[in-house]
Amino acid sequence: MIKINENFNKLQASYLFSDIAKRVTAFQQANPDKAIIKLGIGDVTRALPDACIQAFHAGVDEMANDHSFHGYGPEQGYDFLREAIAQNDFQARGCDIAADEVFVSDGAKCDSGNFQEIFATDITVAIPDPVYPVYVDTNVMAGRSGEASDGRYAGLVYLDGNKANGFIPDLPSTPVDLIYLCFPNNPTGATASQAQLQQWVDYAREHKALILFDAAYEAFIQDDSLPHSIFEVEGAREVAVEFRSFSKNAGFTGTRCAYTVVPKECMAYTATGEQVPVYGLWNRRHTTKFNSVSYPVQKAAAAAYSEAGKQQIKALIDYYMENAKYIREKMQALGYDCIGGENSPYIWIDAKGDSWDFFDTLLNQAGVVCTPGAGFGKCGEGFIRISAFNSLENVQKAMQRISQAL
Ligand code: MLT
Repeated sequence: MIKINENFNKLQASYLFSDIAKRVTAFQQANPDKAIIKLGIGDVTRALPDACIQAFHAGVDEMANDHSFHGYGPEQGYDFLREAIAQNDFQARGCDIAADEVFVSDGAKCDSGNFQEIFATDITVAIPDPVYPVYVDTNVMAGRSGEASDGRYAGLVYLDGNKANGFIPDLPSTPVDLIYLCFPNNPTGATASQAQLQQWVDYAREHKALILFDAAYEAFIQDDSLPHSIFEVEGAREVAVEFRSFSKNAGFTGTRCAYTVVPKECMAYTATGEQVPVYGLWNRRHTTKFNSVSYPVQKAAAAAYSEAGKQQIKALIDYYMENAKYIREKMQALGYDCIGGENSPYIWIDAKGDSWDFFDTLLNQAGVVCTPGAGFGKCGEGFIRISAFNSLENVQKAMQRISQAL
């Protein structure tokens, strides 16, 4: 008899964005004439930068000719992309990251979900609340939690974010081994300063813990004083891994390319306390289960670092950030407290009530999809997230409808 992984039975409901999609589909079927505006899932809407498209086409053309065809590439990614990443995203900001510490992949969702596989199941995991649901769900699937009750899984250490701490959680009060951090934060848009990240790195060094730092939204940082990478913090090479993505900056949500940085100094420990480089473990896992991203997509990603690519990406970011400003200002004018939207494409709004009710109001009365905060954790209850990823025209229309509905 084929038996299931019983940990899946502990999972609460389905994945957040599938739940939302179901409600939206039901609404659309009941109201076929209403044009819905989607400001829910953070999916980009604008075309790939021209520099990326040209490189993508050229990569496809190479595949059409026996002499320039590419079969399997290196599992960790082609050197041309790993070098461009190391130079532009890290060395240019003073971070000591080498090209061979970069592992190219098909998504920060997959990497941030998969990374926990290389650690023991009896470690203690600290996860911010609210946060991107993948971190919690993948640890539950792996058996690192007990049952859920009142919106929380037994055995996980939740790091509460709330209005009082500006959605920047405090250090845990009990020792933890694996820590997830996400800045600029999804869903709240909160950002962490250099000093705040330094506290986490110091904590991890002291406790022989590891930080999994999700920086998928770093390109939206506008404030020059904020760090873009955890590797801007002293000592982070020993205790941190960073996830990045081309999805939100270069519009690769449907094209798929991301990467994870694993410094060679990062250590984990055997049951008897011997050090093992995390790099080797991840390399083993990655090369066993993954065959990297297609050649044309890696060419397209590398073009993001050309001069033209950089300018075009900046224009995309500026466009979405104008939307974010607009949403934030309109919601504030309607009397709703907002955070985020200044260094992030997400605006986190105090709904002054139940977050799924607010979601339903926006969907049913305004035909606008947002994301209910409860889907990001217990501390997200009472808030909703509005995404700036859409056309300015749609954002303006959505805010006009919301103003009328509320
Ligand atoms: C979100 O809306 O939180 C993200 O788009 C989800 C993702 O990137 O997987």
